[in-house]
Amino acid sequence: MKKTVLFLGALIAFSLTAMADEGMWLPSLISQRIGDMQAKGFRLTAEDIYSVNQASLKDAVVLFGGGCTGELVSDEGLLLTNHHCGYSYIQRHSSVEHDYLKDGFWAMNRSQELPNRGLSVSFLERMEDVTDQVLQGYRTGMTESQRDSVVRANTRKLTAAAIKDGKGLTANVEALFYGNQYFLFVFRVFRDVRLVGAPPSSIGKFGGDTDNWMWPRHTGDFSIFRVYADKDNNPADYSPDNVPYHPKKFFKVSRAGVHEGDFTFVYGCPGSTQEYVMSEQVKYVSEVSDPQKIALRTQRLDIQKKYMSQSQAVRIQYSSKNASVSNAWKKWQGEEKGIKKNHTVAEKQAYEKRFRAWAKDTRYEGIVDQLGGIYARRNPVYLAYEYYNETVRTIEILNFASGIQTRLRSGSSRDDLVESFFKDYYQPIDEECFVAMLTSFDKYVPENFKPAYFKEKLESYGSVKAWKDDLYGKTLFTDRAKVAALTADDMEKVLTDPAIELYSAFAQWYSEEIAPDIRETTEALRVANRTYMQGQMEFEKDKTFYPDANLTLRVAYGQVAGYAPYDAAYYYPVSTLKGIIEKDNPDIFDYNIPQVLRDIYAEGGHEDQPVCFLATNHTTGGNSGSPVLNADGNLIGINFDRVWEGTMSDIVYDPEICRNISLDIRYLLFVVEQIGHASYLFDEMVFVD
Ligand code: ARG
Ligand code: GLU
Repeated sequence: MKKTVLFLGALIAFSLTAMADEGMWLPSLISQRIGDMQAKGFRLTAEDIYSVNQASLKDAVVLFGGGCTGELVSDEGLLLTNHHCGYSYIQRHSSVEHDYLKDGFWAMNRSQELPNRGLSVSFLERMEDVTDQVLQGYRTGMTESQRDSVVRANTRKLTAAAIKDGKGLTANVEALFYGNQYFLFVFRVFRDVRLVGAPPSSIGKFGGDTDNWMWPRHTGDFSIFRVYADKDNNPADYSPDNVPYHPKKFFKVSRAGVHEGDFTFVYGCPGSTQEYVMSEQVKYVSEVSDPQKIALRTQRLDIQKKYMSQSQAVRIQYSSKNASVSNAWKKWQGEEKGIKKNHTVAEKQAYEKRFRAWAKDTRYEGIVDQLGGIYARRNPVYLAYEYYNETVRTIEILNFASGIQTRLRSGSSRDDLVESFFKDYYQPIDEECFVAMLTSFDKYVPENFKPAYFKEKLESYGSVKAWKDDLYGKTLFTDRAKVAALTADDMEKVLTDPAIELYSAFAQWYSEEIAPDIRETTEALRVANRTYMQGQMEFEKDKTFYPDANLTLRVAYGQVAGYAPYDAAYYYPVSTLKGIIEKDNPDIFDYNIPQVLRDIYAEGGHEDQPVCFLATNHTTGGNSGSPVLNADGNLIGINFDRVWEGTMSDIVYDPEICRNISLDIRYLLFVVEQIGHASYLFDEMVFVD
């Protein structure tokens, strides 16, 4: 008996400490968590993480481009992020003569750094709870659209006031907890950001899609940039006269290494999670949406792979497309499995039962059933929308035709589009995908949701294959010369082209028959979820809630930890260069390392060179490139992925399984020095311990 109590006690204590690793916390409210962080080993204060009065760690973190994170590591604007975050910029500078993707790129001095049009980084100046101001003028009883007008008008005033000092400021107001709270975010945006260094893809993307979302992992997923400012240290458009930006704060780098159990935290911009949704939504995601989308993408990936394995040229053409189809495909598989394994639907249902009992005779009575009713209305139409997205909208020739039509209409140049489309287009893949995708659309979308156009066409052709043969035989868009020769006078010909006809018919169906229901239920969900969220917060008064991710700056903390993915297996949390050599295989594209790395390894002494590590920090897409910091706030790694068995953490966080994957900063230093011969960059960095 006593033993059981002790054991239970230990179990509870263990799960409580582990539990607390869940969460993506708002930096300005981190004082709510600082006690817990310090108890787990953190040695700094809340003011060190976020302060408006003095430089704090937040001043060294940026939103990189539109969806990644980056961090400053020198007083001269040196910035680190992931290779996959810098990928498109590296690609744009690449050509056959200078293939920086393949060979890597290293500026040997400032004048060799490469400017990147369209790339900006945003520093958070401040964030502030503005709920009262945003809702000023709102009265109970107003409709949602009246409430929206109030919110919009107040937001405009607040953001205009926040940026009146100019100098690259932008501001936005974000709803948290489904609009129970509003926060103002003020950023300073720098637009002159130059490429400093990138490893060859055989290091930066080592393991490719084979290893994506997986552990053990050995990817050197980093790239290096520099932020430039005008002579007064203010944001400016690119100019050769600009100078390196002096940030308020930059991270010092720790080479002390990571060990299981070490405190870590990630400071970055997670994109999107849905932790508080009701069981119906979890059921839809894990039992309907994920499995169906996975099946559709499996078909496309199989078709692509078949042709890619037959020809080196096709493999190059489709490697990037294949990677993006495969990324979410693999994530959804982990998510579906993780939700099932955690019995999240049943857990949520049990929670809802307790909530219902508690909510009786309160303003929350009936809210769960109301939500259930909205999902019942929404899910079938939403599924049709997802099918449309994953089938018709993925057919390359249709998207290209529509792009050309838009440009013809607006009179803008089409050359770059024609060039980039045909460079990476292999018609047999597209034709086979057309047949597979439209066949699936026909088979799985219920009759009442199918466009009338689709049914008529299919009936008149007799089969999708016959439709495909006719369309690809007749469309002018597969013919580069014909597309290049089009002028504004050819609009008639374009509009009657079978590719445009199909694309437009589906677009019209979507906007007339699908989108209105989606809009209506989205709005209804927003209102009901706002109430349900508030109810959950009252129901669990003692729990500290964190808002769902929405690409705003967050802190996630935890510890370096391995995990047991399945029975009888345990994954250690640190990978080394030895593992790269184990995987090395010149015949497998994803595992073919540069010869120089083989040579360095052969010299000996590098077997234990750390490469990546695992931790329990709660992260998601958008956290790529985020600084991973130790108990003293010094940089020990760069976040770049999660383990796929833990990707359900966007919906439910399992402390036993959910792990983020980071590049060990010491591997970055190793590659910069040994492969890039660019260790001059270390002179401007500050190393501790
Ligand atoms: N899974 C990571 C993320 O979601 C990395 C993706 C890029 N890497 C790749 N092999 N496709 O963005
Ligand atoms: N690779 C993801 C990104 O680009 C991070 C992985 C994840 O946690 O979803 O943001």
